[in-house]
Amino acid sequence: MHNNNLPNISNCIVAVIGLGYVGLPLSLAIAKNKNCLRSDKKLNRRVIGYDLNSQRIRELKEGFDKNIVFKKKELIDLKFIEYTNDLEDLKNVDIFIVTVPTPIDKKKEPDLSLIKKASFEIGKIINSDNTKKDNQIIIFESTFYPGITEEICIPIIEKTSKKKFNSSVLKNTFYCGYSPERINPGDQNNTIDNIVKVTSGSNPEVAIWIDNFYGSFIKAGTHKVKSIKVAEAAKIIENTQRDINIALVNELAIFFKKLGIDTNEVLDAAATKWNFHKYRPGLVGGHCIGVDPYYLTYKANQIGFKASLISSGRKINDFMHEYLFLEIISQISKRKIEYEVEKVLIFGVTYKENCSDLRNSQMLFLIENLKKENMEITIVDPNVNKDLLYSEIGIKANNEIPENKKYTLIIFALNNKNFYSISEKVFAEISTPGTIIFDLVNRFFGDNIFHL
Ligand SMILES: NC(=O)c1ccc[n+]([C@@H]2O[C@H](COP(=O)([O-])OP(=O)(O)OC[C@H]3O[C@@H](n4cnc5c(N)ncnc54)[C@H](O)[C@@H]3O)[C@@H](O)[C@H]2O)c1
Repeated sequence: MHNNNLPNISNCIVAVIGLGYVGLPLSLAIAKNKNCLRSDKKLNRRVIGYDLNSQRIRELKEGFDKNIVFKKKELIDLKFIEYTNDLEDLKNVDIFIVTVPTPIDKKKEPDLSLIKKASFEIGKIINSDNTKKDNQIIIFESTFYPGITEEICIPIIEKTSKKKFNSSVLKNTFYCGYSPERINPGDQNNTIDNIVKVTSGSNPEVAIWIDNFYGSFIKAGTHKVKSIKVAEAAKIIENTQRDINIALVNELAIFFKKLGIDTNEVLDAAATKWNFHKYRPGLVGGHCIGVDPYYLTYKANQIGFKASLISSGRKINDFMHEYLFLEIISQISKRKIEYEVEKVLIFGVTYKENCSDLRNSQMLFLIENLKKENMEITIVDPNVNKDLLYSEIGIKANNEIPENKKYTLIIFALNNKNFYSISEKVFAEISTPGTIIFDLVNRFFGDNIFHL
């Protein structure tokens, strides 16, 4: 049966739930586009950005993005977008796009509390006691293991909305979809506009609707898949593949160090073959690569499948900050000069370059270990949220290298744009005769410079 009751694709009201690294750029991209990329239709959509964090909403209304992705002008100038933390404002919404966090808990298992809460709230909003609207579509973009949309979110929404999911009578119903977010914060080339969007829907018609919706504003186009579970799995394996590839070179780095072989030289040599994949050893942190594989292994365990390769990759990458610590201590112990207090300067503490995100940054674990050795730690990181860093480790970061100070240990952790001017000459100015440098990004080479 053809469903004429689906929302009007060019005039609908869209709510983005959760305005973080994913939700804010997405809501701005929808609001910005006024001409459909798939037809000659004008787009007259209203976009409502909802976040339960009232401070975030206050700041966005004032044009401040704490994630330092958008400038004031970009936030203030946009028409057709409203920011709110009042659920009542979402009564007339046709399309809900959910971009709330999906972290792991202390046991490294999926913490679904936020996604469950968002589903519960959406159910209440679309309940016909609350709104005259019907046939709403709820699209999840948060990273899920295959099954979260259908096995966890939809039952919650059905229960609270008292509507039938995907009803064939096309009344008192709602539909769902899953379209994973693949943005890369801090990367100005791979933005929401030029990454192909994988789409899926809860029935073929809804899948086409969702595909056309994203296709109307994403220049790179879309890739529609047959089921919600396929779309969920596609996203989570992207990050899992990266995690395993990095784990492999990390394991090789540990192994080759024992053999006295320079891992970077080995990788350069191997990379001369056309099909060798170029990965370097490094610390894996953040909200995605270091987290998503745990979602997959959790699901595997649930069905009695042992995903041993994925688990091993996680174990190796989670160990790397400790390995780095042991390497630092080992180099210090080999040094001829002894210092009463190790003065450490760290360039970059966020989980990756050009980004303010501190979540699961392995540098924080390393710093905790260095502090236990009574080292005196100075941090230079212009991107990080200084208050948040202070609350996590009790150290305030500097925007610049403090003047007239010398350091006995330098850790160059991130190749941030702001650090492009750092050179060997700069290192020489802030070094003592026995200074050891750990360069985690392979930019500097020479005596007393070590790599992972
Ligand atoms: N950050 C990335 O690089 C990235 C990339 C691709 C996918 N993802 C995925 O996207 C999702 C969101 O990640 P993020 O980095 O944007 O998170 P984030 O922490 O930056 O932002 C999430 C926002 O959601 C809000 N929120 C939490 N629960 C809510 C609720 N129930 N209702 C309304 N708002 C709520 C928070 O206050 C926060 O502002 C995660 O599943 C993540 O795995 C993230």
